[in-house]
Amino acid sequence: MMSDIRNDREPGANIGRSAADIASMIRVNQAGEYGAKQIYRGQLAVMGDDAPDSSAIRHMADQEQRHLDAFDRMIVERNVRPTLLQPLWKVAGYALGAGTAALGPRAAMACTAAVETEIDRHYQEQLEQLESENEPELAGMIADFRAEELEHKETAIASGAEETPGYPVLSAAIRLGCRVAIGVAKRI
Ligand SMILES: [Fe+2]
Ligand SMILES: [Fe+2]
Repeated sequence: MMSDIRNDREPGANIGRSAADIASMIRVNQAGEYGAKQIYRGQLAVMGDDAPDSSAIRHMADQEQRHLDAFDRMIVERNVRPTLLQPLWKVAGYALGAGTAALGPRAAMACTAAVETEIDRHYQEQLEQLESENEPELAGMIADFRAEELEHKETAIASGAEETPGYPVLSAAIRLGCRVAIGVAKRI
């Protein structure tokens, strides 16, 4: 009788919820890193390979590829369902990168600063959530990648992101878009 009552409370529910939370983290991170890679692809497509900022952007794009590869691998290893919206992140990321680069190199950097601000916040939040979980590999990856995202943000600001005309509005719009995308990619 007592054990039936305990079973009704589903002591395993917490474990189940936790596993789903971890899967959701991996899903959103893989989607985000894919989107980030697409942003830099879009920027380079517009800027070309010989613009003053091209090599800095290529370096950031290479790091995004490394982040993406790591989450791609984790998705397979842990049998996590990837985002269903990959085609959307592909087009939206590329369009954001190409669109901001078309406004000029500082606008491209403003885009990077805005995106990386939100990614930093997102990874920081995940690291806090992971403090109570036994997930050293995932936490280590996020801490490692977060440090590089902060470098991207610093590169962008050092490259004049904040000097682009209309920076506060552009930045706020991109940051809002990122927060919406992160919320969607956690679930879909
Ligand atoms: Fe990244
Ligand atoms: Fe980044």
